Amino acid sequence: MIESAPKRVTIRDVVRMKRDGKKLVVVTAYDVLFAKLVDSAGVDIVLVGDSVGNVVAGFETTLPVSLDQMIYHGRAVRRGIRRALLVVDMPFLSYQASEESAIMNCGNVMKQTGADAVKVEGGTEEMVQTVGRLTRMGIPIVAHLGFTPQSIRTIGMRVQGREEADAQRMVDQARKLEDAGAFSLVLELIPSDLAQRITEAIAIPTIGIGAGPHCDGQVLVLPDLLGLNDEFAPKFLKKYADLAGTVREAVQRYGEEVRSGAYPDADHSN
Ligand code: KIV
Repeated sequence: MIESAPKRVTIRDVVRMKRDGKKLVVVTAYDVLFAKLVDSAGVDIVLVGDSVGNVVAGFETTLPVSLDQMIYHGRAVRRGIRRALLVVDMPFLSYQASEESAIMNCGNVMKQTGADAVKVEGGTEEMVQTVGRLTRMGIPIVAHLGFTPQSIRTIGMRVQGREEADAQRMVDQARKLEDAGAFSLVLELIPSDLAQRITEAIAIPTIGIGAGPHCDGQVLVLPDLLGLNDEFAPKFLKKYADLAGTVREAVQRYGEEVRSGAYPDADHSN
């Protein structure tokens, strides 16, 4: 029997899920193996985050990540996904310098990776204008407010929007990004009550990370949720597995067996 392809999640589905009160499940992935696993586990959106710079390349920030690297990882993940919506992050300086460079680079990422949408950070007037241009060109946009990692050198890695003036500015930016055509909004590291205010203020779904329970969906960085990184344990992170321990133990056993000559045995030899 030929296995039929699953129905692919569309942007309409994502927006409708908020209306229907269904939570969106989002994770990051950077390669084909994990893309297949998370897709078959039924997530709604796979994000090829520029967190690839931290978790795969070992950079301290996302700033060094290049467009070519995002395209490389985006293409790998695309090959592993049959059902989920695929979003690829635009890296630092690939969309901020001018609307023209944003159009060319975002369009290029869509063309080269087969992504369904791209994600950009920030809510300044310039960014709202750029999001408007991009969406009018037919490039679907996920926006990103709160702690925006590409601005880490100016805002620091800390909870954003604690002061009322900053909180109100974020609510206004969220409304403007929605009006400009973004179809979803990531909210990172903000107080839960602010995430609730924003979620109630806009019709497009909010996707939280370190933003509490009131968002329309949640996103986690896959190696973090799998417990692959012993050194990263912020308050918001729940580790659903201890793969660091599992990997270390498996490789230790393999090493012991190679050294003792127990591997390869007859069953694993030709
Ligand atoms: O790069 C990334 O993984 C992200 C998520 C944390 C939202 O932007």
